Amino acid sequence: MTQENIESVLIEKRVFPPSDEFRSRARIASKKDYDKLRSDANKDHEAFWGELAKTEIDWHKPFTTTLDSSRAPHFAWFTDGELNVSYNCIDRHLKDKGDKTAIVFEGEKGDTRHLTYKELHQEVCRLANGLKAKGIANGDRVVIYMPMVPEAVIAMHACARIGAIHSVVFGGFSAESLKDRIEDAGAKAVITADGGTRGGKVVALKAACDEALDHGCKTIKTIIVLKRAGNAVNMKTGRDVWWSDAVKGQADTCDPVWNNAEHPLFLLYTSGSTGKPKGIQHCTGGYLLGTIMTMKWVFDIQDSDIFWCTADVGWVTGHSYVAYGPLAVGGTVLMYEGAPTVPDAGRFWDICERHKVTIFYTAPTAIRALMKMGEEYPNKYDLSSIRLLGTVGEPINPEAWMWYYQVIGKERCPIVDTWWQTETGAIMISPVPGAVDTKPGSCTLPLPGIAADVVDEEGNSIGTPDKGGYLVVKKPWPAMLRTIWNDDQRYIDTYWSKFNGRYYLAGDSARQDKDGYFWMMGRIDDVLNISGHRLGTMEVESALVAHERVAEAAVVGRPDDIKGEAIFAYVVIKGKRPVDGDAEALTRELREWVAKEIGPIAKPDDIRFSDNLPKTRSGKIMRRLLRVIARGEEITQDTSTLENEDIIKQLRGQA
Ligand code: PRX
Repeated sequence: MTQENIESVLIEKRVFPPSDEFRSRARIASKKDYDKLRSDANKDHEAFWGELAKTEIDWHKPFTTTLDSSRAPHFAWFTDGELNVSYNCIDRHLKDKGDKTAIVFEGEKGDTRHLTYKELHQEVCRLANGLKAKGIANGDRVVIYMPMVPEAVIAMHACARIGAIHSVVFGGFSAESLKDRIEDAGAKAVITADGGTRGGKVVALKAACDEALDHGCKTIKTIIVLKRAGNAVNMKTGRDVWWSDAVKGQADTCDPVWNNAEHPLFLLYTSGSTGKPKGIQHCTGGYLLGTIMTMKWVFDIQDSDIFWCTADVGWVTGHSYVAYGPLAVGGTVLMYEGAPTVPDAGRFWDICERHKVTIFYTAPTAIRALMKMGEEYPNKYDLSSIRLLGTVGEPINPEAWMWYYQVIGKERCPIVDTWWQTETGAIMISPVPGAVDTKPGSCTLPLPGIAADVVDEEGNSIGTPDKGGYLVVKKPWPAMLRTIWNDDQRYIDTYWSKFNGRYYLAGDSARQDKDGYFWMMGRIDDVLNISGHRLGTMEVESALVAHERVAEAAVVGRPDDIKGEAIFAYVVIKGKRPVDGDAEALTRELREWVAKEIGPIAKPDDIRFSDNLPKTRSGKIMRRLLRVIARGEEITQDTSTLENEDIIKQLRGQA
C-alpha cells in the first residue's frame, strides 16, 4: 500500500473528559502532571527511562549503562544490570503482601481458586526445582501449551526464575503449528495439560503434543502434563511426567537466577507477511519496566484493584497484562478459563459482579459480539465495582466504543484504547485515563517516553491533520523486541529497513488529528487481523496449497461486523473446478484442513473456486482486485490484461 491511498474516512468529533470521580482517585490526575512526564521524557529520553528503571525494579546488581546503541537496531537497555523477573513479580511482595491474593481464577464450569503471593511463590519454586531436576538450565527453551489456568502463569514464572526462555503457544493452535514453534525455538521441554475446557468442549492439548512429537521436535526430552480436564492421555515412559509428580518432594523455595537485563525472557511467535511465524524475542529488564509503567500510567493500578485482562496467555496481552505486569506491581489479577458465552452471554458481567472486578480489559471483537447479544445481559448484573475499561488488538468502531462506555461503564469509567503489538512488549499509545480526554475510536496520544509519529514515504513527519501515513517509533524504548529468534536479518528487514535504520516501522497506517490524537487505519502489509489476532495471508495460503487437491490459493481479508476481518480464500484445484455438491464438500474439507494445519482461528470464512487466479503480466496475483471482489464492491481497475475475463464471474461466484 502506498501512502497516497491511505486516506482517512472516519472523522469522529465526540470528546469525553475523565469523570471527576475517576480523577479524584487517579495516580496521574491532571493534564499538568501528565504534560510534565511527557516533557521530562522529551528533554532526556535516556535519563527518563533510566530513572524509572532504578526506582521501579529491584536490581540484584544495579546497571551503569542505560542505553547501548552500539549495535543498533539491536538496542540494549540497562545492559550490565542483573535481575530476575520472577523475583520482581513475586518475592519482592512477600514481606508486605504475602497474604494478598495474587491470582483469582474461575474455570468455565464455575470452579474458583485464589492464590496468595505466598502460595504463588511456593508453586513457582516447586515447579522451578522440578524443571531443574529434568535438566532445564539457564537459557534453555521451554514451550508452554496450556489452557487458561493459574498453572500457565506458574509455568512462565518457573521458567523466568531459572532463566529458561519460555515460548507460550496458544492452546488453540494445532499440532502442526506447535511443532513448527518447538523446532524453531529448539525447545528442550513442553509444559502442557491433558486438556482445557472451552465452550463446553475439551481441547486435547497433550494429544496435540504427541502428534507434534511424532513428526519431529527431536530436541524435546520432557513433557510435563498438568491434569486439568480429566480426558484420557497417553504417557510415554521416560519422556512424559505428570505435573504432580514433577513437583513431588521438591522444595518450595528456589533461588532465582540473576541474569543480565538483556537475557531473553521469552519468545512469542507471531505472524508476518510470509508463511513462517516470527519468534519475537523479548528481554528481561526493559520488558519488565514497560509492563510496570503501563500498569501504572494506563491502568492506574492501585492496591485495592481487581484487574481482569481477558486475553489468553498465548498472546502477548496475556504475557504483559496477565502473567507479568499485574504481578510486578503487586496487584490482583483475575484469570478465566473459558468462553464468554458459557452458560450465556452474561458470563463476563457475572464474573465482574461476583469477583468485584475494578479494571476490565478486553478486545473490540468481544465487545462487538456481546453488544450483539443485547443489553439485557449486562443489565442483569451489578457492574458498579468497575472503574476503568480498556480495549486492545484492533481498532474499535465508535458504535462499539459508545456501547462499552454507556452500557458497561455507565458513563463513569474512562476507556483506554491501547495500541501496541507483540513486538512493542507493552502499551505504546493510549490515554492516561485521569489526564487525557478520550475520543471514540482513537487510541489518543503516545505514552511518556514513546516517540511515535506518522511519516510519509520519505520518512518526513506528515504534519497535516487527518492525512494518513506510516506509523513509526523514532527512538528505542525499553520493552521493544530485541530481535527475531535465530533471524537477525529478518528483524532488520521487517522493522528497520524501510527508513534506513532510522525508525521502527510498526506495519500499521495511521493519521493524527488536529489535537495530535492517533487514529489507526489498518495494516500496510498482507497481515489480517482476525478477532484481534494477527494472521499472515501467506500462512493461510501455504496451508491451503499443502492440501493434495489444491494447486493455487490467494487469501484476502474482508470486513466483518464481529471479527473485524474475515478470511476470504480463492482456490484453484488440480483438475476440474468443483461445482455444487463437490464444491460444498471440498469447502468443508478445506476449512477443517486449515484448522488442522494452523488452528481454528485461521479457518477461511469463504472459499471460492476458480479455474485460475487473476494475475498481472508479470505474474503477480492481483490482490487488490481480489479484495474488491471479496467485499462485493464495484471493480474500477483495468481488467483487460486478464487472460480470461470470464474468471471474474467465477471469482464473484456467478459462474
Ligand atoms: O494492527 C495493530 C493492531 O494489532 C496489531 C498488533 O497485533 P498483535 O501483535 O497480535 O498484538 C495485539 C495485542 C497487543 C497492531 O499492529 N492493534 C493493536 N491494538 C490496536 C490495534 N489497532 C488499532 N487500535 C488498537 N488499540
